[in-house]
Amino acid sequence: TYVITQPCIGVRDASCVDVCPVDCIHPSSSEAGYDEHEQLYINPDECIDCGACEPACPVTAIFEESAVPEEWKSYIKVNADFFKG
Ligand code: SF4
Ligand code: F3S
Repeated sequence: TYVITQPCIGVRDASCVDVCPVDCIHPSSSEAGYDEHEQLYINPDECIDCGACEPACPVTAIFEESAVPEEWKSYIKVNADFFKG
């Protein structure tokens, strides 16, 4: 599973959305009723680990779960939690 981390906040470039073959990157927009973080999220249940999104992000916000920098590890849960409930 790939994870979107802090650099996305306030940027939301969305290039990642265009390259994702399974459309599993979703906005934290008002249509989702939750925009507290101002970033996009990857649904861990749908991500097929293709890696296409990682180089597409201009601010290097996307990492494979095991490669998320220490300071942004909390985003693994943040991404997953976005799709619960
Ligand atoms: Fe989509 Fe592939 Fe990125 Fe997963 S790794 S979010 S499937 S582009
Ligand atoms: Fe955010 Fe980068 Fe995608 S800024 S919306 S993770 S291309």
